[in-house]
Order: sequence, then structure tokens, then C-alpha cells
Amino acid sequence: MTDKNKQSASGGENKEEGLTEVLTEETKFYYPSAAMKENATVKDWDEAIHVAESDPEAFWAEAAEDLEWAEKWKKVLDDSKKPFYKWFVGSKCNIFQNALERHQKTAVKDKIAIISEQEGGRIQKLTYSELYQEVNKFAAALKKLGITKGDRVAVYLPNIPETAITMLACAKLGAIHSVVYAGFSYLALRDRINDAGAKLLVTANASQRRGKIVNLKKTCDKAVEEDCLSIEYMIVVKNVDQETIMKEGRDLWFKNITQNEKENVETEIVDGNDPLFVLYTSGTTSKPKGVVHDHAGYMVGVNRTFKWVFDLKEDDVYWCTADPGWITGHSYIIYGPLMAGITNIMYEGVPDYPENDRIWEMIERHKITILYTAPTLVRLMMKYGDEPPKKHNLATLRLLGSVGEPINPEAWRWFYRVIGQEKCPIMDTWWQTETGMFMITPLPVAALKAGSATRPFPSIKASIVDKKGQRVPVGKGGFLAINNPWPAMLNTLWRNPERYLETYWEKIPNVYTTGDMGFVDKDGYFWIQGRADDVMNISGHRIGTAEIESALVSHEAVVEAGVIGKPHPIKGESAKGFVILKKGFEPSDELIDALKKHIRNTLGPIAIVDEVEFVDKLPKTRSGKIMRRVLKAKELGLPLGDISTLED
Ligand code: WT7
Repeated sequence: MTDKNKQSASGGENKEEGLTEVLTEETKFYYPSAAMKENATVKDWDEAIHVAESDPEAFWAEAAEDLEWAEKWKKVLDDSKKPFYKWFVGSKCNIFQNALERHQKTAVKDKIAIISEQEGGRIQKLTYSELYQEVNKFAAALKKLGITKGDRVAVYLPNIPETAITMLACAKLGAIHSVVYAGFSYLALRDRINDAGAKLLVTANASQRRGKIVNLKKTCDKAVEEDCLSIEYMIVVKNVDQETIMKEGRDLWFKNITQNEKENVETEIVDGNDPLFVLYTSGTTSKPKGVVHDHAGYMVGVNRTFKWVFDLKEDDVYWCTADPGWITGHSYIIYGPLMAGITNIMYEGVPDYPENDRIWEMIERHKITILYTAPTLVRLMMKYGDEPPKKHNLATLRLLGSVGEPINPEAWRWFYRVIGQEKCPIMDTWWQTETGMFMITPLPVAALKAGSATRPFPSIKASIVDKKGQRVPVGKGGFLAINNPWPAMLNTLWRNPERYLETYWEKIPNVYTTGDMGFVDKDGYFWIQGRADDVMNISGHRIGTAEIESALVSHEAVVEAGVIGKPHPIKGESAKGFVILKKGFEPSDELIDALKKHIRNTLGPIAIVDEVEFVDKLPKTRSGKIMRRVLKAKELGLPLGDISTLED
């Protein structure tokens, strides 16, 4: 870094008079270029925050004017039943109108909406008008199969255009999609289908990953074989050329039911507060939570945050390396980019296959301007060194983004220097499945600090509090809380409003509890440090320790298990299980392998446990709860903390 960046943490003028601070790298500011500032939609970050803060409802009402409505709202925010907040009450709309329909009236219709690339190299391009037609066809087909407003449709698909088509077709009909990441096991899929009561499942016969063919259809067959009575039809995309067994009467090829479809299906105009989707996410129990988002608030929140944070221009080619199976994919692969009318990349494969420069090669090939990725991927690429990116022309990049976990300053600086070539600001976006949209994030004109998500998005009030909800002083660690409602907030948990209240609103009084820890520095910048609860973040994927424990104890050899997350140089965190064996079972390396495999089979390849240790006892409270905190402190050689509740 050059010396001109070595300014004080208060932005150049040192407020602590007379002090010549020796600043650590992390307190340095990184300033946007003059060109970035000149062309930005929002030119003054402080002012944008100030204006929105003075009247958040006016701010969001103005943001809503960017979109089309069948009928406008009567009230921007209804808090009479809080914390069941309602945004844009009385409105009639459909996110599909904004994602595709309205573009058909403008020049956007001839633009490329999606460039999809398969690991094997196949590239497909769909314009906005082609995508619109495909969605119409699939919506008509779904309608003929009996799907109507309010029905749930489960989706188990890789990152391919049909995923976008399916989600949008559901939205168009007013049906509720429940996308399950296609790395989950059949059991995890079955639980989610059952909880949502899905009538129909959309999948692909197979997917390509690291040169291997993953048979998704087989997983779906196993999931619905028994105990999954709600599923009437399974629709299968032929994504890979290979033989597929179809069950008569239940299974239908995607192509067969869409290709000759001519019916023109009307878009279902829904109440703005009607659900758009359910998306399951891990919590502190073994049962995942079905996070519910509606049409109106979600579309306004996602649209405004996407356009401002990535400062979108008409000719942007944008690549988010997440999967549609996560919220990042819902908000910022499918809905955000389509509403914005830009060109979007969907890549089905891994970023370092067949060579470790695949990701950089793709940026050059498609002339990508915005890359939105995760710290775990940045660290993996960093491990491969500077050579792979240097082989490629990355000059088209103008903006970078990070999401999923805290980005460590070292990875941030590498990303900034080697990939962004010191001209691309990095938008470190903090948010959650539940928030639906970016919450703590810079705008491109912000002064950045390596490793900080900076400040809340305009209108959002966030704070670091103690258990009682009192703000803690600057620099002190505490719980990250959100103090006011925002439009894309979750409406509730699927068929479980009690758990919604208990999880997010009753743990700490008067605020939305995020479950994260962090602190605020003297410039008001937030530093997120990770989860406060028993949820791990492995490679940016959220997974509950309780889920892995329950998978472990379902193995015949296991009596009891405690699982913790440990720091990991690439994945951020890795899981370790402590296991008490049943009588008659002996510790062995084979058993360790068998347990790891069992977890993988139960939860899917995303739930990888790196280490298993056999123990005689687990630290417990007197009420019998495993104290994972104690396990973790012991494992990491840290002080044990308060162990007064420890039974033994
Ligand atoms: C959790 C939410 C939101 C999309 C991906 C994950 C962690 C997310 C950041 C960030 C630090 C982050 C938090 C959060 N997280 N983004 N920029 N800096 N931590 O969605 O599965 O709902 O997980 O991911 O711990 O609570 P999710």
C-alpha cells in the first residue's frame, strides 16, 4: 500500500489530538478512485445514510417507486403486530413482473439475461425475451399439473438456467418455491419437502462437479420413495447425457412438458405480503428453520441494495459464485440481477477445475465486470498463488464483493491487490437468509477497511449489545443486533411463528438478534467475528452443530456426541466430533471413517466432519446439555470460562 493510504482511522484528520498513531493495516482506509466516485449512483455515502435515517419509510417508499405494482401500497410499514412487521401493506404485485415482464417493453428484452457455463465447457445464452418465454412455458406446464397460488414446489437443481426458470415460474403462478441446495442428502431433502408439504419436485437427472457426474435424480427418488406423500410429480431436467430411470405416472421430462406449450398464462397478481418462497436454514436444533419471504418487501429491499451496493450499469456482466440453493443465490443470482436487467453468469461446476485458474479464465472469457464471491474461495485461490490470475486479463473487473463469513484482512488485501488490481472496491456484505438483503455493507464510494463490512446500509440501524440489549462501548465485543425493521426481512418461520419469536426477538429485548458477535470501532465500522450460537460456518455454509450431532447419534455405534467448529485456514471453520461409543464398539480408524461417511450420507456432502475423537465423557450442564463451549475451549487450549454450571 502506498503512503497516502496511511491515514488515521478517522479518515485523514486525526481526531485524537496530538497523537501520531501507528496504525495497524486493519485501520487503514482504502479510498475509491476518482472515476468510481464520479460515476457512482450514490455519490455521498454519509449523506445517503443521513437522509435514509431521518425517514426510513420515505426512503423505502421512494425505492419502491423503481418497481412496477399492480396496485400500490396503502401503508409503507405496519408495525401494529410487531415483530410480525408488514411492508407495503395493501399492495398488489408479483416479483415476476419486475424480474421479467416489464423488461419485455424495453430494449432490455434483447439483452443477454443469463450466460450459463457447464464445467465441461458447454456455454448457453438466453436473452431476457427468451427467458421470459421459457418461464411462461414452464408456468403453463405447472398449471396443467395443478399448481396454483400458495402451493409449494420443491426444487433440487444445480446452478443452471432451469433453476431460474423454475423459481420464476413458481413466482408467476403465486406458488411458493422451496429450493434445497443440491448438495444435501436425500434425508435432508425429504425433511424439507415434508415440512413444506411440497406437491411437486423439480430436479435434474445429474450434474457435473469436479469432473464427476452426480446423480441428482437418484437422490430425489430416495427422498420421495417413502414418507414423502405430498409429492405428486417429479419434473426432471435432462442436464447430462446419461441414462435415467423415470417412474411412470410420476416423473416427467422438463423438456417434454414445456417445448410445445403455447398457453399464455396470466401472471397471478398476489397480495404484496403473500409468500414468495421458503428457504430452510440451520439453527441451533437439529430441525432446520423454514425462513419465509414475501413478494413486496423482498423485491424492494433486494432491488435497492443490489443496485446501490454494486452500483450497477447497463452493460455490467455480473458473476456471483454462490448457488441458487442459498439465499445469496435467491437474492443476488436470480431476483436482484434480473430485476436490474443486467447480464448474469450461472456456472455449474467448481472454480478450480479442470485447472486452478478456471475462475480467472471465466472472467476473461465473459468480460466480467463484477465478481461477488466468498472468503473461503478467496483463500483457496490465494493458496494457488498470484500466477493463475496473472495469466489472464482481468481488466474488465470494476467491483468485487464478499459474503458468507468474515473476510480476514490478509485475504481481503490479496483480493484487492491481485484480483482488483487496486482499483476495484470490495463490497463486504454482511447479511443472512433471514434478512433477505444486504444489511451491513459499504457502497462503492465508501472508504474501506480490510476485513470490515463497514456500516449499515442506509436506513438500517445495527448495534452491538449485551444480553440485556444495552449497547456496549466502542471497541467492546458483544451481540450484533438490528434495531429497526427493514423491507426484505423474513415474515415468519414456516408454520412455526413461535420459533420465529423465540429465535429472533425474545433472546435479547427489543431488537432482532442476528446470532453473530462483533464490535464497532471508533469510526462506527462493524467488525463481525462469527456466530454466537452453536451454528458453524464451513466454507460459507451455515450448518448447526446439533444437526451433525443428531446424524452421529443415529449411527449404531454412537451413544452420545458433541460437535464443535474449529478455525480452519481455508474453510473458515471445520467440524470436529467428540463421540462416546456404545458398549461393544471399539475405537478404530475404520470406525472414524465409517462415522464420517455416515454423516455425509445423512446430511449430504456439505456436512463434512474433519475430525472424530472418541471420549468417555462429555462436559455437560446439570440439566444434561452438552457444553460445546467447554469442548471448544479445551480443544483450542483457551481458558474454560464460566464452568459453574458444569455437572462434573
Ligand atoms: C451468516 C448468515 C447471507 C448470505 C450467505 C450466508 C455470516 C454472512 C458475512 C460477512 C461476516 C458474514 C454471519 C451470518 N456472514 N456474510 N460479510 N461478514 N459474516 O447466509 O447461511 O443465512 O448465514 O453468515 O455469521 O449470520 P446464511
